[in-house]
Amino acid sequence: MAEHVMIGNVANYAGQVVTIKGWLYNRTDKGRLQFLQLRDGTGMIQGVAFKKEMAEADFAAARSVTQESAVIATGTVRADDRAPSGFEMSLSQFEIVQLALEYPISPKEHGIDFLMDHRHLWLRSSRQWAILRVRATVIRAIRDWLDSNGFLLVDSPILTPAACEGTTTLFETEYFGEKAYLSQSGQLYNEATAMAFGRTYCFGPTFRAEKSKTRRHLIEFWMVEPEMAYVDLDGCMDVEEAFVSYIVQRCLNDCAEELKVLERDTTKLEQIVAPFPRISYDDAVKMLNEAGQAFEWGEDFGAPHETLIAESFDKPVFVHRYPAKCKAFYMEADPEDPRLSLSVDLLAPEGYGEIIGGGQRSASLELLEQRIAEHGLPKEAFEWYLDLRRYGSVYHSGFGLGVERTVTWITGEHHIRQTIPFPRTLGRMYP
Ligand code: 4AD
Ligand code: MG
Repeated sequence: MAEHVMIGNVANYAGQVVTIKGWLYNRTDKGRLQFLQLRDGTGMIQGVAFKKEMAEADFAAARSVTQESAVIATGTVRADDRAPSGFEMSLSQFEIVQLALEYPISPKEHGIDFLMDHRHLWLRSSRQWAILRVRATVIRAIRDWLDSNGFLLVDSPILTPAACEGTTTLFETEYFGEKAYLSQSGQLYNEATAMAFGRTYCFGPTFRAEKSKTRRHLIEFWMVEPEMAYVDLDGCMDVEEAFVSYIVQRCLNDCAEELKVLERDTTKLEQIVAPFPRISYDDAVKMLNEAGQAFEWGEDFGAPHETLIAESFDKPVFVHRYPAKCKAFYMEADPEDPRLSLSVDLLAPEGYGEIIGGGQRSASLELLEQRIAEHGLPKEAFEWYLDLRRYGSVYHSGFGLGVERTVTWITGEHHIRQTIPFPRTLGRMYP
């Protein structure tokens, strides 16, 4: 057998005989010629099996192989401008490792519920392949940027005794007789680690028992949360725009093939370079009213509002200083107007909505005690958090970027559910 190479690397083997180990994606039968689309997870290449050039048994295997059978193919790599990957293989040997039963997902259209029920197989198709590779690149970019810009990875717990983002979306569980909740956000712990290490981040799964069945909501999603001591609201936005620009540019650079498979308009992504526009909540409300949208000051924005606001910009837009009453308890009050909070959301362009939520945290023990009472939160569970204001409290800020929202935007997918390998959505936990 020739050297086993990955399809993603065949460009380095033009003219050579190599072996591919993978699966049959699709086959076109032209009698003495069989066109086999081969995939191995790193890419796709067409193998051409020509009766005259192969042993009889090998050609018979190529002619009868079924979709998604496991196969090993050997042949000569040839440059071919017409091939999507730029290369083709003239096969000399072909072996079936396992002949697949009739594959449930055929190239014809299937309904979304059917595809989601077969998510464990659907992952093999080219769009899903492209989306999840972009996801991996987004995650790599997140880590690389934070690790090389002075942030220390400090993980936060998943099992927690208290709510971070309001009590209505908590997943309750039992912790040896005590109530416990799956983490909605690692932020409160990050505030402790930022006071210990200066700039930190946590990165993990978060859970929201949200009864929303929208194209933007998952029940389980991944969030990266940086937290910074001695950084104010403006400094926080500076970090966010540099961070998001890096992630997008990294995807353009590393995922050209994936974005092509997805038919993403990359000119839109090329514009995502810092700085990003910054508008206040008040300005955003004016924009809505001028556009003829009835909107009452003091409410949080819904998806249609976010889309309308973001439409005026071709970059993500910061909306800062939301009314305190529509944000979480930990937000710092605006010294210029105590009705407002030093919060900021980042809204993605093209109608993808909020991808980041964050802001400056309250440094005041008194204000936090008051807010905890106003939000009806149990003070005992927050005593450790209040200690951070008793011992060396400083102004500090941070934010959370939702990985799946970001991947939805970068890939141009309509719905968030395809941006995570096995989505947990309202009404679905299978497979
Ligand atoms: O705006 P959120 O709720 O902010 C926080 O949790 C802060 N404690 C983060 C922080 O400051 N450390 O959530 C942050 C981001 C959102 O902008 C969105 O991208 C994502 O998390 N997100 C969701 N993604 C998918 N499904 C859901 N149900 C989501 N809820 C929030
Ligand atoms: Mg938010």
